[in-house]
Amino acid sequence: MTSASLEPFTFDPYDYRFHDDPYPIYERLRADAPLYHNPELNFWAVSRHSDVITAFRDHVRLSSANGVSLDPAAWGPHAHRTMSFLAMDDPRHVRMRRLVYKGFTPRRVAEMDGRILELTREHLEPALARGTFDWIEDFAGKLPMDVISELMGVPESDRAEVRRLADLVVHREEGVLDVPMPAIEAALSLIGYYSDMVGERRKSPGEDLTSALLDAEIDGDRLTDEEIIGFMFLMVVAGNETTTKLLGNAVYWAGRNPGEYRKVAADPALVPDWVEETLRYDTSSQIVARSAATDIEMYGATIPAGSKVLLLIGSANRDPEVFEDGDTYRIDRPDKGNLASFGAGVHFCLGAHLARLEATIALREFASRVGTYELAETGIERVHSTNVRGFAKLPLTVEIR
Ligand code: HEM
Repeated sequence: MTSASLEPFTFDPYDYRFHDDPYPIYERLRADAPLYHNPELNFWAVSRHSDVITAFRDHVRLSSANGVSLDPAAWGPHAHRTMSFLAMDDPRHVRMRRLVYKGFTPRRVAEMDGRILELTREHLEPALARGTFDWIEDFAGKLPMDVISELMGVPESDRAEVRRLADLVVHREEGVLDVPMPAIEAALSLIGYYSDMVGERRKSPGEDLTSALLDAEIDGDRLTDEEIIGFMFLMVVAGNETTTKLLGNAVYWAGRNPGEYRKVAADPALVPDWVEETLRYDTSSQIVARSAATDIEMYGATIPAGSKVLLLIGSANRDPEVFEDGDTYRIDRPDKGNLASFGAGVHFCLGAHLARLEATIALREFASRVGTYELAETGIERVHSTNVRGFAKLPLTVEIR
């Protein structure tokens, strides 16, 4: 096997050319440097499907406690201050995750389907009526946060403001590596808002997730207010933008492959496959980081304890060992499953079923209303980030059935 240090090419996750098309770099990494080391940027990276999944599962040697992002602007190193269990190791992580799971159950999520459809129509209808609109700004950028607010019990009158704050929290300025001041201010406002909400629900509980989290108990142990607020903030950071970008990537790639869109438009039963293929082909959460808790031997090299290790999810999903003809966007591909998109092991995405449900409902509605559509020639804007992949602007013109 090739040792990373012998590799002559550079993989720079901050490079805009990499954001434009990371897949040729991933291919090279998988083939020539399955363990890659970048001494300037001070990280190691694994890119093959089997290594990415093994790394996800190796939560003892690969710690999440120093944040799970290379890029500090993605809240990674700040996450522990917000009681985010995404950035905790066991036993703290497993304790909080089990308590949260008592409230955030698959059943509670499944019961959201009717409301998700209503919210989808609320945002989609006015956009479709215009014919030409921005899929992200007018629709995909609104739905996921409204669904999270619905789940938590944020009153409808506050949702637009909560969405505005949530957008500021994840907003990044090009080239700025620190969390920008407006994002910090918005985070504090949002945390203040959630803190008031938790206080109110403590006095008069309702049917929402916030009340269920206050009620959650295992052997006498309960979540503190601070932990509940931390989880609410985590949903904003982990579940909002990722789902927006999934919706964007689905419409972008089916727009670039009109033959594929024709298949779903003709047979709505294929919509879940459209979601899965988008999650595989161009997932919205591309790179997750860990810190080596001990020296780790791989491919004849030693990752020293304390090093950052990147798990290249987007690369794992194109690995030819697992996906035949992986560079082709094919909605009805036979080799589904084995996605790295939601991670694996103890930190496996808690919101995967919500993301899938939401995307399926929204895209089914789109496919049932839109016969054909065209992406705009100009005005499409990509987000530049080391971990989130997708669009900030996606103008298109639709032809209603
Ligand atoms: C964890 C991806 C949607 C909540 C993760 C992880 C990934 C991921 C890769 C693992 C991170 C790690 O191992 O360090 C995605 C993608 C989504 C999505 C691609 C949408 C397409 C959501 C939604 C929610 C959510 C909708 C909730 C509303 C979480 C939480 C964790 C997590 C709470 C942390 C789990 C833990 O640390 O135990 N997600 N996610 N995600 N996700 Fe998602």
